[in-house]
Amino acid sequence: MQGSTKIQIQDVVAPIDRRLYGSFIEQLGRAVYTGIYQPDHPTADSDGFRTDVIDAVKTLNVPLIRYPGGNFLSQYRWEDGIGPKSQRPVRLDLAWRELETNQFGLHEFMRWADKVNAVPNMAVNLGTRGIQAAADLVEYCNFPKGTYLSDLRRQNGAEHPFAIKTWCLGNEMDGPWEIGAKSAGEYAHLANETAKAMRRVDDTLELVACGSSSMDNPTFGNWEETVLDACYDNVDYLSLHRYYGYYNDDDPTELDNFLGKNHDLDDFIKGVVAMCDAVKARKRSTKTINLSFDEWNVWYHSNDADTQVTPWQVGPHLLEDIYNFEDALLIGSLLMTLLRNADRVKIACLAQLVNVIAPIMTDENGGVWRQSIFYPFMQVANYGQGVVLTDHSTSSTYNSREFTDVAYLDTVTTYDAATQTVTVFAENKHQTETLDFALNFGELTIDRLLDATQFYGYDVKADNRDGHMQLQPLPARTDTHHANTKLQPLSWNVLRFKLQN
Ligand code: AHR
Repeated sequence: MQGSTKIQIQDVVAPIDRRLYGSFIEQLGRAVYTGIYQPDHPTADSDGFRTDVIDAVKTLNVPLIRYPGGNFLSQYRWEDGIGPKSQRPVRLDLAWRELETNQFGLHEFMRWADKVNAVPNMAVNLGTRGIQAAADLVEYCNFPKGTYLSDLRRQNGAEHPFAIKTWCLGNEMDGPWEIGAKSAGEYAHLANETAKAMRRVDDTLELVACGSSSMDNPTFGNWEETVLDACYDNVDYLSLHRYYGYYNDDDPTELDNFLGKNHDLDDFIKGVVAMCDAVKARKRSTKTINLSFDEWNVWYHSNDADTQVTPWQVGPHLLEDIYNFEDALLIGSLLMTLLRNADRVKIACLAQLVNVIAPIMTDENGGVWRQSIFYPFMQVANYGQGVVLTDHSTSSTYNSREFTDVAYLDTVTTYDAATQTVTVFAENKHQTETLDFALNFGELTIDRLLDATQFYGYDVKADNRDGHMQLQPLPARTDTHHANTKLQPLSWNVLRFKLQN
């Protein structure tokens, strides 16, 4: 099978906002307790943070981390997680039916985020709480000093404001499962009033309003329109959430369909962009609302196990999906879709980061291991820099149960002018055929191939618990203006070129 792409560095989709490679830590399962925080672990530092986890997170190069939820958020009292640890209350977390000891809270998260070189994407509870608690939290975090709450922060050890810029106004407030779920009208009013109050405290904030928690929710569309109608002037982003499952393991054509789910993601993004722009036109506004895709991933492997978990434990094994090779292929494809939409998706969070539907797993009595999905995420987050170029690829396509015209060659190119580097991410979705991939650089001159890797050859149902998965070298030929390589069936590939100045 043949496939090709043309590299045209003037043909830019958008500069890449690195926050596209964000992730998410929720106070859920073992994300925090025995995940990032385990004071009795041999690798724990003086804050109780596992340094083996810190190292793995740094390898992923995640620039932004959403916190503290998720469904957990909608019943959370942020004040429980500040002050001396011995005085913090143990609470029932009604979202996940766990015990929350609050030994890890706001200050701990801020210190940990700093250690992994990430900025926070903080969220305020609009389920059981509202305007005052949200404004108080902004004052506590961002006001310099001289008020009750800012001085309380200083007393608790943070002399300087946290200066948190990006905030989510609640979480999945359209979802019937959410504590304090709201109708579109109720949420729209509360979000707008909360945004106003938060901005009175700090007018530099960037605010994210909740979009639908899924495209499948019956209120999808009407929700976006109602929320934007009310909040347009006071928010900057609308959120999207999407998780993918597998339909039928016994049907071999189902893999084609699974790998086509990037089409679903693309349709979802384009649909929400259209809604944002329709409201913009109706309001005759000059302001554009961009998207924060603040939860996305594959999530289904742990569903059955989760129904067996005993309630009211601290840090139970919940949502511990063990990802396989086909999941890594889909994650690569979804990342490329986010990049192709980088003109409107400015923030995205792989949900989540450690233990809970996560690329990084910990053993409470042992070390850290990397899931299959770790590898494509790490490569895109590290190498997808600069600008995204318009896709000029060609290949044959297939139809699946849900999708038509899915390209066997899924590819996206980024260009970093500062380092004169072109990076080509490419996936071959064909189950049996190798794809001869021709890259045409036109007038551009290739100085050298910096690096080429492939991730392939594993059983699609294999996972990486034993650590056998690794990136392998990808043989490629280059001349002055061209490169050629072979993409193996079901493979994820990355080629990085240095251009001549
Ligand atoms: O990421 C897991 C859960 O998925 C989050 O708590 C919630 O926001 C979503 O439904």
